[in-house]
Amino acid sequence: MAFKNHAVLSTICFYAFTTLFSLFIASPDSFLNGMSPQSTVVPYDGGQWVLLHQSIGVSAMHMQLLRNNKVILFDRTDMGPSNASYPQGAEQCRNYTVRNRIIIDCTPHSLLYDVAADTFRPLVVNSDTWCSSGAVDPNGTLVQTGGYGSGIQAIRTFSPCDDDTCGWNELEVRLLAQRWYATNQILPDGRVIVFGGRRAFSYEFFPKSDDKSSKRYYMSFLRETTDPYEENNLYPFLHLLPDGNLFIFANNRSILFDYNNRLVVKEFPAMPGGVKRSYPSTGSSVLLPLKMNGNLDGSGRPEVEVLICGGSFAGAYNRSNLDRVYIGASNSCGRIKLMDPDPKWVMEEMPLPRVMGDMLLLPNGDVIILNGAANGTAGWEDAINPVLTPLLYKTYESDPQRRFMRLNPTTIPRMYHSSALLLPDGRILVGGSNPHEMYNFRRAFPTELSLESYLPPYLSPTSAPLRPTIISIETERNIISYGQEFSVNFALSVYNPDVAISVALLTPSFTTHSLAMNQRMVVLDVASLRRLSVFDYKITTRGPPMTTVAPPGYYLIFIIHAGVPSQALWVKVQ
Ligand SMILES: *[C@@H]1O[C@H](CO)[C@@H](O)[C@H](O)[C@H]1NC(C)=O
Ligand SMILES: *[C@@H]1O[C@H](CO)[C@@H](O)[C@H](O)[C@H]1NC(C)=O
Ligand SMILES: *[C@@H]1O[C@H](CO)[C@@H](O)[C@H](O)[C@H]1NC(C)=O
Ligand SMILES: *[C@@H]1O[C@H](CO)[C@@H](O)[C@H](O)[C@H]1NC(C)=O
Ligand SMILES: *[C@@H]1O[C@H](CO)[C@@H](O)[C@H](O)[C@H]1NC(C)=O
Ligand SMILES: *[C@@H]1O[C@H](CO)[C@@H](O)[C@H](O)[C@H]1NC(C)=O
Repeated sequence: MAFKNHAVLSTICFYAFTTLFSLFIASPDSFLNGMSPQSTVVPYDGGQWVLLHQSIGVSAMHMQLLRNNKVILFDRTDMGPSNASYPQGAEQCRNYTVRNRIIIDCTPHSLLYDVAADTFRPLVVNSDTWCSSGAVDPNGTLVQTGGYGSGIQAIRTFSPCDDDTCGWNELEVRLLAQRWYATNQILPDGRVIVFGGRRAFSYEFFPKSDDKSSKRYYMSFLRETTDPYEENNLYPFLHLLPDGNLFIFANNRSILFDYNNRLVVKEFPAMPGGVKRSYPSTGSSVLLPLKMNGNLDGSGRPEVEVLICGGSFAGAYNRSNLDRVYIGASNSCGRIKLMDPDPKWVMEEMPLPRVMGDMLLLPNGDVIILNGAANGTAGWEDAINPVLTPLLYKTYESDPQRRFMRLNPTTIPRMYHSSALLLPDGRILVGGSNPHEMYNFRRAFPTELSLESYLPPYLSPTSAPLRPTIISIETERNIISYGQEFSVNFALSVYNPDVAISVALLTPSFTTHSLAMNQRMVVLDVASLRRLSVFDYKITTRGPPMTTVAPPGYYLIFIIHAGVPSQALWVKVQ
């Protein structure tokens, strides 16, 4: 028996060795070509695209993963029928007028996607959700706000359920301002801040439980960052920081904002280069992983870095929208350490320019950049040259020349109104794209109803021996308490003691318009790692230290070994 195990182990070790060799030693060129001289045994594949559905009937403009592994997605309800239908006998029709024409629309504009079963259930959403915003509250309920027309002040909720009974709820309480293109962020106390929107130079909170939460507050920063005609400050980027303040970025400016005291604590330098980063010059922003196993400040808070990539140049929207001239998008990124005494943008160049890219955190701390176009801006018919090649940004690569890597391209352009999110198994779900006023299948970049998944390189078969499998989490009902130790049992074929093993919490984002609202990753601090048997391990770690690092709610927990994440389980942080 021992001999057999040994034989198996040495085979796997050899396998793992060749895998590590190809993962870490192959040159960037060989990644591009998919094969390196060394990798004839284990080719590096640059990731893989899988078409899940040619048509799901609804263009996935907004998406959110819920705690029961279902994805709620929707587009808008005021521009004609979708290609989806309700089950017979359960039709729901709405009447509205578009350009003096009455439209009777009996199609759903929202679907609930069951990831494991790969099936859909149509949902009724009544008020218009076009270009709206959302956040999941600590109970796992999606709080979804604003939109256009009938929905511009709407507050809707969706609470996940295990059967087919749950649906959208339209609340009686409404937003205090009209919010179209606003941003939502979950706060340490579980409230949601709803920030900005077109010509909405203010913010407010949900729920409106007390006096302070029932007011709307003026925000001059939003007025100041509005460019004439182009605006370039819609869907502002918001990140909750470990010190309790908000990082707010709009156009080319950013501030540290104390929303409790309505105080701009600090303004960061404008991001250089003449590039506008916010809608319609849409770039994308991520709060890089908060590392409890990294450098901490005197109060035990992790370092904070933000990365913003892509966008378009001043004047690009004027040209695309008025003249149909499509200026090349920006290839620049800025990265900033927010808590430095004198923070500065460190600029980097992507190998490809991109506007309307989606930036998502992968469980290993890298960032994937996908979707979008190389020329033009957001807006109807306002972009050309789809960028089909995703990029990997290796967050912890110390040589800036080696940070970006091209991944395998898709074949489906994902322009304006596309979206993407991380799934618990490490895949990226990619859908949507509709640069037209209504569903239109004749024009260039037709309304896209397909749903794809992208498997990052860590899901390639060659990474399999390195992948941990979570067996159990030793806490009651998978609840993780602030600052409390807990253990995770996992299995692993081959443990490589020379590479890091980590435990990470990730919040799934509400993604729309290149903005992954509430996306957040906390790398926990590891107390010990014990081997229990040949393949079984127990890692002991500590819950996040405070609500400003990880607001209460549902998180995906991953174990990451040699850059290869396990599949995630859901935990509740409280
Ligand atoms: C959507 O429906 C329209 C009208 O019925 C049809 O012409 C079109 O081919 C459909 N598109 C897709 C992608 O299913
Ligand atoms: C839509 O309009 C038609 C014609 O005016 C009317 O008969 C029907 O009841 C309306 N349906 C709804 C859902 O309002
Ligand atoms: C969450 O659920 C609890 C118990 O059902 C309830 O008391 C609380 O108000 C809910 N919180 C939110 C933010 O909805
Ligand atoms: C930021 O945008 C403003 C308004 O368009 C512009 O005046 C300013 O020059 C820009 N700053 C930088 C550093 O590009
Ligand atoms: C865009 O057009 C508006 C309105 O004509 C003008 O005020 C603004 O200066 C233009 N912006 C740029 C950067 O050309
Ligand atoms: C797209 O942008 C590139 C780079 O700026 C530019 O050279 C090219 O002419 C643009 N394409 C079109 C069709 O405008």
